[in-house]
Amino acid sequence: MRMNSVITSVSDDQNSTAVLWSKYADAYDGMCSINPAYEEIMSMVQFHLSDLTESFDFSLLDVGAGTGNLLSRLAKAYPAAHFTHLDIDSSMNRYAKRKYLDAALSNIEIVENSFLEWLPSTGQFDFITSTNAVYAIHPHEKTLQKLFDLLRPKGALILVDFGRQQNTNDWVRYMVWNSLKRNGIRRTYQIVKGNWEAAKQNRRTTAAQNDGLYWLHSTNEFVSELEKVGFTVSLAKECYRGYSDIAVCTKPA
Ligand SMILES: C[S@@+](CC[C@H](N)C(=O)[O-])C[C@H]1O[C@@H](n2cnc3c(N)ncnc32)[C@H](O)[C@@H]1O
Repeated sequence: MRMNSVITSVSDDQNSTAVLWSKYADAYDGMCSINPAYEEIMSMVQFHLSDLTESFDFSLLDVGAGTGNLLSRLAKAYPAAHFTHLDIDSSMNRYAKRKYLDAALSNIEIVENSFLEWLPSTGQFDFITSTNAVYAIHPHEKTLQKLFDLLRPKGALILVDFGRQQNTNDWVRYMVWNSLKRNGIRRTYQIVKGNWEAAKQNRRTTAAQNDGLYWLHSTNEFVSELEKVGFTVSLAKECYRGYSDIAVCTKPA
């Protein structure tokens, strides 16, 4: 597994309101483990990918790949494919690397860079996925254009994006309730205590949204921005408890 460590951009961490991804990283998977809506989006992306490809030998880029949860499952399902994990944050990437090594997944390359600063050759990917990361890559118009440019003609993008105003209290209630049902009071208390940093970082999402740094969109706006750069959108709907949208898009031939 190659780990490129070229960080050429100003990190989001230097922005006063943006989420501090490196602080989020330690709590990230613990928080996901008590969030059934997260598991749902991972499964949705895998389902749509399986719907789009009959081949097992393809290239796929995951943008803002975080701790590697999506690529872990896709790389297991498609061992002959080649995956690129792109994320700006070294802590997130460290967790992902550990996960890929533990699962002996050798078909994933980790690239540590800001998406808009990264300069791979265009038209090279058969598929691009991204789950709840594009909203944080500013400005979204440039991000969507780059996603389009990196795909080969007839390539497909499966994009999940967090587009609604963040409501941390609503998420904490939802996750605590789910954890209580599954883990009981004592374990839930431990999980919540251990994941307090994640709740703090989620509050920063609200601040960054209010500052116009993070992209807010309705499903219709999401589709319209994707179509503006040239994508054909074959499916678009709300997901992630109504906070995100998922779109399945293709680049015309
Ligand atoms: C909410 S997390 C989502 C992680 C993963 N996609 C998932 O669903 O678990 C957002 C991720 O986007 C990454 N990110 C934020 N800004 C970025 C940028 N400019 N370029 C690349 N990655 C970025 C963060 O480091 C973080 O890992």
